[in-house]
Amino acid sequence: MSSAAQRQKAFYLDRPCGEWVIKSKDVPKPGEGEVLVKVVATALNPAAWKIRKFNPPRVPESWYPLLIGHDCAGVIEEVGEGVTTFAKGDRVIHEGSAGERFGTYQLRVVAAAEHVAKLPENISFDQAASIPAGLAGATIGLYGDCDRAEGAKKLKAVIVIGGATTVGQFTVQLLKLSGFSKIISTASLSNVETLKSLGATHVIDRNADFISEARKALDGDSVELIYDAVGTKDLQAQALDIMAPGGQLVATGARNLELKANYPDKHYVTVYADFRSPGNWALGKSLASKLHELLASGAIKPHRVELLPNGLASVEAGLKRLENNEVRARKLIIHPDETP
Ligand SMILES: NC(=O)c1ccc[n+]([C@@H]2O[C@H](COP(=O)([O-])OP(=O)(O)OC[C@H]3O[C@@H](n4cnc5c(N)ncnc54)[C@H](OP(=O)(O)O)[C@@H]3O)[C@@H](O)[C@H]2O)c1
Repeated sequence: MSSAAQRQKAFYLDRPCGEWVIKSKDVPKPGEGEVLVKVVATALNPAAWKIRKFNPPRVPESWYPLLIGHDCAGVIEEVGEGVTTFAKGDRVIHEGSAGERFGTYQLRVVAAAEHVAKLPENISFDQAASIPAGLAGATIGLYGDCDRAEGAKKLKAVIVIGGATTVGQFTVQLLKLSGFSKIISTASLSNVETLKSLGATHVIDRNADFISEARKALDGDSVELIYDAVGTKDLQAQALDIMAPGGQLVATGARNLELKANYPDKHYVTVYADFRSPGNWALGKSLASKLHELLASGAIKPHRVELLPNGLASVEAGLKRLENNEVRARKLIIHPDETP
C-alpha cells in the first residue's frame, strides 16, 4: 500500500455528547486470526444518536474520539496470520463494533475471521449492509447469554413488539426458523404483508390497544416470550402484565430496569448486541458459520434499504432522521468510498 493509501477517512463522535466529525486516520492492520475488509456498504443504527444524546456508561470516556458503525458488507483486502478460510477479493459480511479497528464508519475495517461470513451472490452489498446489527440483536436477544438461565425455548406463542424494526424483522425470521407456530407482532398496518412474508402469523396494529389485541391473537394460549424492539416503558409494562409467570421479556429497544421490581416472577432480559463481547463471542462464531447458507437459501432475508449519497458525509443527517422517527421499515445505508 502506498503511504496515501495507508490513510483513510472515518466518522467520529469527538467527545461524550459532542460533535460528529470526519477526519483522516491510519488504515488498521489485521492481526492473527483477523481480516481487513474494504467496506463497500455500511448502515446507520439508532445506537449512534443514542450514544451521543445519552452518553451511556457502557461507552467509557477513554473510547473517545469514538469510531462506531456496526454493519459491514465488503471485500476481503488482506488476511492476518493463521487465516485460511478467506482470500483477498472474497465478498463478505460481518458485524462491526466500537473502536479504531472495528467501527465500520471507515473505508477499511478489521474483523475477527471467526465472525465473518462469505456473502452469497443472491445478496447485494447494499442488501447485506442491512443485516449484521439487526441480526445480532435478534440472535443475542433470543439465544445469547444475557444474564438469564437459558435462551428462548421452543414454545408455541411469542410476541414481537415492533416487528417492522430492523431487529424485529430478523427476530420474526429466527422465531419462524426456531419452530414457533404463533408469531404475533405489532407494527403499522402498512407492514402487514412484509411481516407475514417473514413468518408472522398475526400482526397487531401498533396504534390499537396492545393488551386486548394480543389476548385476541393469543386466543387462550399463554405467552412466555416477548421480544421488545421498541422500548417504551408503558408497552414493556403491558407486555409484562400479559406474560405468563416464569416468562422472559427481552428488552432490546431500551432498558427500563425500574420495571423489574414490579414483576419478581418474570425475567426482564437486557441485550448488548455485540458479538465481540466475551459472552457473545461463541454465538457470533456459530452464526457466521451458518450465515452463508441462511442467506443463500432465503431462510434469512435482508431488510429494505435506502442508499444515501456522499458516503460518511451523510451519516449525521441520516442519524437525525432516525432520531426524529422519520425512517420507516427500511435501513439507511452509505458507501464510505463515496465520501467527498
Ligand atoms: N440492545 C442492543 O444492543 C440493541 C441492538 C440493536 C438495536 N437496538 C435498539 O432496538 C431498537 C430498534 O432498532 P432498529 O434499528 O431495529 O430500528 P429501526 O429499524 O430504525 O425501526 C424503525 C421502525 O420502528 C417501528 N416503530 C417505532 N415505534 C413503534 C411502536 N411504538 N410500535 C411498533 N413499532 C414501532 C416503526 O415501525 P412501523 O413502520 O411498523 O410503524 C419503524 O418502521 C432501537 O431502540 C435500537 O436502539 C438495541
